[in-house]
Amino acid sequence: QADVFTYDPGFTSTAACDSTITFIDGEKGELLHRGYPIDQLASQSHYLEVCYLLLYGELPSATQLEEFETLVTRHTMIHEQMHNFFRGFRRDAHPMATMVGVVGAMSAFYHDSTDINDDHQREVASIRLIAKMPTIAAMAYKYSIGQPFVYPRNDLDYASNFLNMCFSVPAEEYQANPILSRAMDRIFTLHADHEQNASTSTVRLASSSGANPFACIAAGIACLWGPAHGGANQACLEMLKEIGTVDRIPEFIARAKDKNDSYRLMGFGHRVYKNFDPRAKVMKQSADEVLELLGVDNNPILQVAKELERQALEDPYFAEKKLFPNVDFYSGIILEAMGFPTSMFTPIFALARTVGWISQWKEQLADPQLKIGRPRQLYLGETRRDYVDIENR
Ligand code: SDX
Repeated sequence: QADVFTYDPGFTSTAACDSTITFIDGEKGELLHRGYPIDQLASQSHYLEVCYLLLYGELPSATQLEEFETLVTRHTMIHEQMHNFFRGFRRDAHPMATMVGVVGAMSAFYHDSTDINDDHQREVASIRLIAKMPTIAAMAYKYSIGQPFVYPRNDLDYASNFLNMCFSVPAEEYQANPILSRAMDRIFTLHADHEQNASTSTVRLASSSGANPFACIAAGIACLWGPAHGGANQACLEMLKEIGTVDRIPEFIARAKDKNDSYRLMGFGHRVYKNFDPRAKVMKQSADEVLELLGVDNNPILQVAKELERQALEDPYFAEKKLFPNVDFYSGIILEAMGFPTSMFTPIFALARTVGWISQWKEQLADPQLKIGRPRQLYLGETRRDYVDIENR
C-alpha cells in the first residue's frame, strides 16, 4: 500500500507509485540508487556501471560489466536513414526539439523492439536507447552548428565517445582528455535517475497506456525541457551571465525574495530536498577540477556562482524556505567550460536520464501493480446545470 501523505491543507494524495530503484531523503539530503549513495557512485563507479545497477538492481561482476559495455558500445550507431530526420529541422531549432522528434521517430525504425509485452524486445529497446542517445544528442548539436555528423567509435568509452562526436571535425580530431571525459561521465552519473520527478512520472504515465518505449522516452524528453525541471541548467547559466558581476548579486537575491515578483533563482530549490542536493556538492567539486584543468578557474561566472551561493545560504529567507543549490546550479558552468553552448545542457541531462526513465519504465511493466493509476482530481467547478439557448443567455 503506497504511503499516503498530505501536502496541501485538507488535500490528501497517495504516492504516484511504489519503486525499488531510487530513494531520496529530502531532509537528510540523501540520494541512493539501489541502496548505494550517489557520492560513492560518482567518485568510485562510472556511468555504464551505474546504468547496469539501475537496470538490473545489483552492481555487475567484471564479466557482466564487460558484456554490458560491449553490448552498449556496439549499438551506438543509428539507422542511416534517420539522418534525414535531422535535415527536416531548421538549423536554429533547439536541440531538445530535435531530440523529442528523433527519439519519437525511433519507433518508426526499430519495429523489432516496440512490443512492450515481449521481454526480449523490452531489453533490446532499453539497450538501443542507452546506446543511441549520445549519438542523437551529438548529431542534434552538430546539425545546429552546421558541422558534419561524427560517427560513434567503438574504441572510446561512453563519455569520450560523446565528446568526440560533439567536438571532432574532419579537419581535426578531438583530443580526448581523461579528466574531461571523467567529468563528463560524472555528470551523466549525477543525472541518471531521481525517483518520481516530473519527466520520470511522464514516462510512467505514458507507459501505463501501453505506448512503445521510444514514444514514452520522447514524452519524458519533452517534459524535461521545462525551465522548472531539466531546462534549469540552461536557465541557471543564463541567469549567472545576466548577473554578470558579484556586485549585482544582492539585486537578484532581492528580486527572488520579493513576493510581488515571480522571479526565481535558477538552480536553487527543490520539491524534495529541503537540506541540500547531494549532487550539487559533487558537481561543485567537479567544476573546480575542470575549470582549473582548463586554466579558467578564475572564470567570472564561477566566481558569481560561488558568491551567489554564499550570500543566498547566509540569507534568512533562503534558510527559512530551505532553498539550496540543486543539481543544475554548477553543471552549466562545467559544460560551458567544456565547450558546449547552453542549448546543449538539457539534451545532456536527457541523455543521462534515459537510463533512469528506462529503468522505471521496465519496473512498471514488470509489475502492473506499480502502475501510476489514472490520476484523479479535486473538482471545484460548476455543479450540474441545464443548457441555455443562445437567445436566452
Ligand atoms: C530538477 O524532481 C526532481 O527531482 C527534479 C530534478 C531531477 O533530478 O529530476 O532534481 C531536477 O528539476 C531540479 C530543479 C531545477 N529547477 C530550478 O532550479 C528552477 C528554480 N527552482 C524552482 O522553480 C523551484 O525551487 C522548484 C520548481 C524546483 C521547486 O518549486 P516549489 O516546490 O514551489 O519550491 P518550494 O515548495 O520548495 O518553494 C518554497 C518557497 C516558495 O515560496 P512560498 O510560496 O512558500 O512563499 O520557496 C520559493 C517558492 O516561491 N522558491 C524560490 C525558489 N524556489 C522556490 N524562491 C526563489 N528562488 C527559487 N529558486
